[in-house]
Amino acid sequence: MGIYHLCSRRMDNRKGVFYICITVFILVLLHRHLRHQQVRMAHARADGSPNSVEFDIGMTRDVHITDFVDDLVHFKSRIYTQVEHTKLFVYAAIARNISTPWDEFGVTAWIHSGVDPKNASCCFLYIDGVLRITNAWRYSVFMKPEIYVIRFQCANPIPGSKPIRMTLAVSGFACSSNITTYVKPLYPLRPHGNVTIAICTKQAYGNLDPNLVVEWLEYNINMGVDKVITFVDASNLIQNTSEILRYYQKIGFIEIIPYDLPMRDVIPRIPGAKITISYSDSLAAIHYCEDQLAGYSFVAVADFDEFIFPRKHANIKQLMVYLSEIYPDVGVFTFKTEIYITSWGKINENGHLILTQYSNRTEAIMDRVKNMLIPQRIQPGAVTTHTAKPSSGYRRTVIPSDLAVINHYRKCIPKWTKDCFNFTDFPRITDFSMSKRLSQVMINKISLYNQILLSKKLWHLKD
Ligand SMILES: *[C@@H]1O[C@H](CO)[C@@H](O)[C@H](O)[C@H]1NC(C)=O
Ligand SMILES: *[C@@H]1O[C@H](CO)[C@@H](O)[C@H](O)[C@H]1NC(C)=O
Ligand SMILES: *[C@@H]1O[C@H](CO)[C@@H](O)[C@H](O)[C@H]1NC(C)=O
Ligand SMILES: *[C@@H]1O[C@H](CO)[C@@H](O)[C@H](O)[C@H]1NC(C)=O
Ligand SMILES: *[C@@H]1O[C@H](CO)[C@@H](O)[C@H](O)[C@H]1NC(C)=O
Ligand SMILES: *[C@@H]1O[C@H](CO)[C@@H](O)[C@H](O)[C@H]1NC(C)=O
Ligand SMILES: *[C@@H]1O[C@H](CO)[C@@H](O)[C@H](O)[C@H]1NC(C)=O
Repeated sequence: MGIYHLCSRRMDNRKGVFYICITVFILVLLHRHLRHQQVRMAHARADGSPNSVEFDIGMTRDVHITDFVDDLVHFKSRIYTQVEHTKLFVYAAIARNISTPWDEFGVTAWIHSGVDPKNASCCFLYIDGVLRITNAWRYSVFMKPEIYVIRFQCANPIPGSKPIRMTLAVSGFACSSNITTYVKPLYPLRPHGNVTIAICTKQAYGNLDPNLVVEWLEYNINMGVDKVITFVDASNLIQNTSEILRYYQKIGFIEIIPYDLPMRDVIPRIPGAKITISYSDSLAAIHYCEDQLAGYSFVAVADFDEFIFPRKHANIKQLMVYLSEIYPDVGVFTFKTEIYITSWGKINENGHLILTQYSNRTEAIMDRVKNMLIPQRIQPGAVTTHTAKPSSGYRRTVIPSDLAVINHYRKCIPKWTKDCFNFTDFPRITDFSMSKRLSQVMINKISLYNQILLSKKLWHLKD
């Protein structure tokens, strides 16, 4: 079988090989077990949760152990998987519970508008070799361009047991017996500490300024944020920014999730465009964040040019502890934005940082507001870039701008260009509070990172 050969080969990545060997060993056992598997029939559960059906998918006939090995080796490079014969692309399946019983999974996919999402099924493959099928019993869709993001929820047919692979099937089709059309289910991150904060940045793409990214990451590290999740489309992000993200991944602050758009050849589009299809595409990242970050006390969706700025608290963590005490029934905290319009020009030419150079802002406005969520208090699948729905018993509130705002550093957008330079429509307020807030230590640290990164020394730290 060549397994001995594979396992005894000297390779750099010994840990990876070790896991592959263990998994292959388990799969060999599974393969034997499958030969004796009987077809088991429909089996409705008594507890009122969606029906589940289980049967042997005949993997002994169609799937060979080598397919699994291949799949394991290539899994990390595969970003989504296409369901056979259908324009349905599964991106991620993530358990909704933050610990056992793993009774439900959120499954995020792209679906072509010509495919009916009604009566879809979830296919769960377990280590015992049995495929169990449940209804993808609820789904959320915010907009329906030609191809759009959809999130299903699927009850785990064996709560407490971890499926080894999952996929979807659309109405009228059986679950695939081709393992390469399955994804590996994921489980929420487990933060340390009792008050934990995470930020989801959605996709990093295009010519995102590496200086801004360093400032944003250092700011958040210093302001009590514990984790950042970012989605990278490797083919569409300038290299210097991508290297900086990799550095912060190495030190454990960010998780970089590979991201790509299905059917891009037929339906060309780029991430982040201000059109419906791109808003929909970004939901793949947001749904992923919602499930993956469910174990954090507070989760925000914000971009690299948006800084959560507490005016009266030392950091974001203290702000959130305070807000959750004074608003005990709130699930979604909405921050107004103060836009530091960079097109207006720098106030302090000598500042090293974007954060200290631009100090003229608008008033606090309800423009592109951002939210901090308590994951346990929001409706599943109802988070978007600017909104989130609290679950019953909780509410959403707008935080007074003297407590905290979003500092948004950006150019004038075309829609404003006519008025952007008009003091009547956009009165400019000079505000040095960000500059004052940044400690000298942090300023030095950011400049240092900039120097190192720009001299490319750090870029050779790879793996
Ligand atoms: C998670 O687990 C608890 C039981 O510990 C259960 O009550 C809850 O409904 C589960 N599911 C979700 C989606 O939270
Ligand atoms: C979905 O299932 C329901 C009830 O099981 C059925 O009435 C309906 O016709 C199905 N729809 C499709 C599109 O298959
Ligand atoms: C399984 O699906 C992949 C594409 O996901 C395809 O390349 C491969 O040929 C399929 N294998 C079988 C046995 O159908
Ligand atoms: C964190 O732990 C402290 C001390 O155990 C406790 O008083 C506080 O309520 C906890 N905070 C949260 C948000 O759980
Ligand atoms: C990053 O790279 C882009 C193009 O690759 C370049 O235009 C830009 O000046 C670089 N930025 C910095 C800060 O080095
Ligand atoms: C500035 O805004 C005011 C009020 O909307 C408007 O009357 C004026 O024409 C604007 N000026 C320019 C230069 O756009
Ligand atoms: C900054 O705002 C002040 C106060 O409105 C104004 O006098 C000044 O011209 C502005 N400078 C820039 C560069 O926007």
